[in-house]
Amino acid sequence: MTTLETLQGDITTLDVDAIVNAANTSLMGGGGVDGAIHRAAGPDLVRECMGLGGCKTGQAKMTKGYQLKARHVIHTVGPVWHGGDANEPVLLRSCYENSLKLAAEAGLQSMAFPCISTGVYRFPADEAARIAIATVREFTANPSSLQRVIFCCFSTEDQERYERLLQP
Ligand code: APR
Repeated sequence: MTTLETLQGDITTLDVDAIVNAANTSLMGGGGVDGAIHRAAGPDLVRECMGLGGCKTGQAKMTKGYQLKARHVIHTVGPVWHGGDANEPVLLRSCYENSLKLAAEAGLQSMAFPCISTGVYRFPADEAARIAIATVREFTANPSSLQRVIFCCFSTEDQERYERLLQP
């Protein structure tokens, strides 16, 4: 049985098997949560990323966590919002699905997601949260190593949104 949880805080502080990074296709770091994770992990993270050959939108790649408490970082690239008719919802769903698959394949028990694509990439927060929860629920309906999936929201507004949407 996998529990789905929300919390408000900085994802780089979480002691979990993996934190998910809202990266860009270069995997060379950036601003937002990407910048925070690279700063907290230290320079070895970008060095490992250099060998990964980038990441396509909707795909996910896993590295070590280095100086983070998290043992791994799963880098995924969310879609930039262009109004909703450029396959953005499907691509965002793929980010969650591919990140969950990588974690389960590696036998991880706990992982935390930020609100992928809802910052710089301007994906509407409510629709993104609905996609995130639906995708995680569908994946975790089947048995896997995952015991805890955390939606780590930077703002209280986001955290309250997830709490509301997770109500049975
Ligand atoms: N912990 C948790 N969540 C965070 C943190 C943090 N330390 N910092 C920011 N966030 C939240 C933002 O508030 C937002 O809700 O992460 C969510 C995603 O926002 P962005 O980081 O802007 O990511 P995204 O919208 O997916 O844009 C990705 O931004 O930083 C660049 O290199 C990145 O090009 C990529 C783009």
